[in-house]
Amino acid sequence: MSRTKVIIDTDPGVDDAVAILLALASDELEVLAITTVTGNVDVALTTLNARRLVQLAKRPDVIVARGCAQALAGPLGEFEGVHGSDGLGDLEWDEPTIDVDHDDAVEVMRRLIESDPLSIVAIGPLTNLAVLLERHPGIDRRVEKVVIMGGASFEGNVTPAAEFNIWADPEAAQKVFAAHWPITFMPLDLTHQATLGDADLQFLRELGSEVGRRTADMLEPYAAFHDQWYGSRDVYMHDAAAVYELIDPTAIVKQGVRVAVETGGQHSRGATHIDRRRGHAASSTRVGLTLDNARFRELVRERLSRFD
Ligand code: BDR
Ligand code: CA
Repeated sequence: MSRTKVIIDTDPGVDDAVAILLALASDELEVLAITTVTGNVDVALTTLNARRLVQLAKRPDVIVARGCAQALAGPLGEFEGVHGSDGLGDLEWDEPTIDVDHDDAVEVMRRLIESDPLSIVAIGPLTNLAVLLERHPGIDRRVEKVVIMGGASFEGNVTPAAEFNIWADPEAAQKVFAAHWPITFMPLDLTHQATLGDADLQFLRELGSEVGRRTADMLEPYAAFHDQWYGSRDVYMHDAAAVYELIDPTAIVKQGVRVAVETGGQHSRGATHIDRRRGHAASSTRVGLTLDNARFRELVRERLSRFD
């Protein structure tokens, strides 16, 4: 089986953590690097969290590189953190021994893209990818595929119009969507179909592994947040849905579209305008429409069972 080489660009984040573990457990993927960015928490914490997760998965072969500390337009304003103050649900962790690469995230991406055909799965704000495009014009044409978790058609989650990853850096998102790489993206309309419930948390706990126990512990406060905010303890697995697309490109129904990102707008900064008209059917930008959640849950359970 040929394995898809992947860089995970991320801001862990509880659902990022599940996405990363899912990717690391999957034979279909060869995770080369985890690059971090400010998003759910600042980049010092997202980098620490990436190191914690690589250590948890016992995968010291995976590069961890630190990325951008702030959005292209400057620091994020205050927003309500949904992943705890440390980004991973505020558990106790030993200090990880995994090192951070001496190059920054953008340089690590360039290095890897220039040596191998690979895909990028971007599950945080798109700042690192925008800086990559700025620093290395033409590099977009060397990337096989970019899978993004971001955007929304129906309703946002930070504002009524905007989804967090796009809202956090709309200027970066605009550059990334305008570049010459095939993009498949998973907006909230799709990721709200990918959930784990209490039975899955119990399943993970009962695995008896450190990965199973910690994943369930991280998901517990996330479930409480979902209960409070959405009226159900089922948790949205936004970022794992993007990794699912790379593991099994047939699983998610998709459609060719054109995307414009709102960078102005009194009420709609960070909104994604997704043009689904038939003229874009053959576009290399594709949006995820539907997935089978029973199949998704089964995959997450089976893959996370692979850790000792
Ligand atoms: C996205 O925002 C973050 O909070 C999640 O990790 C996910 O990437 C969902 O809007
Ligand atoms: Ca994320």
